[in-house]
Amino acid sequence: MKIAIIGSGYVGLVTGACFADLGNEVICVDHDQEKIKLLNKGKLPIYEPGLLELVQKNTKNKRLKFSSLVSEAVKKSEIIFICVGTPPRDNGEADLSAVEAVAQTIAKNMTSYKLIVEKSTVPVETGLQVKNTIQEFVKKNVAFDVASNPEFLREGSAVYDLFHPDRIVIGVESKRAEKILKDLYKPFKVPILVTDIKSAELIKHASNSFLALKISFINLVAQYCEKVQADISKVSEGIGLDKRIGKSFLNAGIGFGGFCFPKDLSAFIHIGEKLGLTSGLLREVLDINESQKNIFIKMVEQALWNLSGKKIGVLGLSFKPDTDDMRYAPSIDIITRLQQLGAEIIAYDPQAIPKAKSMLKNVKFASSAYAVCQNSDALLILTEWNEFRELDLKKVKKMLKRPIVIDGRNIYSPSEMKSSGFKYYSMGR
Ligand code: UGA
Repeated sequence: MKIAIIGSGYVGLVTGACFADLGNEVICVDHDQEKIKLLNKGKLPIYEPGLLELVQKNTKNKRLKFSSLVSEAVKKSEIIFICVGTPPRDNGEADLSAVEAVAQTIAKNMTSYKLIVEKSTVPVETGLQVKNTIQEFVKKNVAFDVASNPEFLREGSAVYDLFHPDRIVIGVESKRAEKILKDLYKPFKVPILVTDIKSAELIKHASNSFLALKISFINLVAQYCEKVQADISKVSEGIGLDKRIGKSFLNAGIGFGGFCFPKDLSAFIHIGEKLGLTSGLLREVLDINESQKNIFIKMVEQALWNLSGKKIGVLGLSFKPDTDDMRYAPSIDIITRLQQLGAEIIAYDPQAIPKAKSMLKNVKFASSAYAVCQNSDALLILTEWNEFRELDLKKVKKMLKRPIVIDGRNIYSPSEMKSSGFKYYSMGR
């Protein structure tokens, strides 16, 4: 099939590369010419495991191309995926101006039937707006369909997730659109749920909100554990073994970040309020998420008393492991707050330092996890990269000025840390 992907951010690039790998002809478009130049040189603007190999393989066999011209991509393709950003406005609402602009450009360049698919995360009823926009700007007598096909990829495992989805959701209004998308997804042996467009849009926002709710719920329970000295990891295990609840997304810590949960939750709250619905439950999810960072800061103060003049080593900056994405990373608020309290910060992350440099001021960046420990008053864990789980803790203890570890992601065992002579703090244990 001939596919255009408009917007070569993390969703667009991963989707485009994977569709090409399945044998389709794909053109990925982005208005950022520097990004297109980089991609054409076989380089990636983001770090995502497995993606570089996939992009290089499929550009070499000419199934994957990059362009900055929407017009060219529209003319050459039958299916057009809209994968542009939907960033939050100050009031939490999703800014859909890029979606609208792309819909207009697609319409103006359509000369034959096109299936226009929303993949960007959008509030319910955006499909309707896209359809109206295309109808308004399209040349006469060109048939088209609009569909919604939300993505459920996690950064850090996006390539794996795309090839191994739990389900595929397609929201359509016509049999023709349904058939095209079912054919496209034929190689995947998973349930394909066919819905109307609005239901598909809601499935995306509701899925992310539910996962965020699960995280905030377990973080609230971690707060109970903290008060009575119970162990959140055992409580999570006990809850998660109930199949109706499930084990995943019950890891307590400094909370969720990234460009999906905070933004999508705010947009879901906003659209709900616009529809006259109550938003208390979802607002509380965001509030609990914020409170986790405050709890962590208090723990640092409890361990070090005055932070003024103290040197604090930070391991992990990205919002989760296996990505260099710093957007809404809890590390940003935590480091900024520690600096306001007078601490001097030295930090290391396996991938995120280049991006962190433009987002964090007055932080010294180290070239290894051990370099962060050297003469620091305490070591903080803010992202659970595997390499931090495997550190030589004897070496860490020797290098630290004081054997204090404050673990925002619960990666070490409290009893082992205690027996190794550390003063160890973690979340809800
Ligand atoms: C999330 C969803 O998981 C994807 O299904 C969805 O497609 C994506 O958003 C999106 O809308 O594009 P992502 O944000 O990449 O994916 O990463 P997650 O693995 O979901 O983690 C999000 C945040 O929650 C991270 O900061 C992570 O550290 C935190 N988290 C996750 C916890 O604090 N505890 C957990 O148990 C799980």
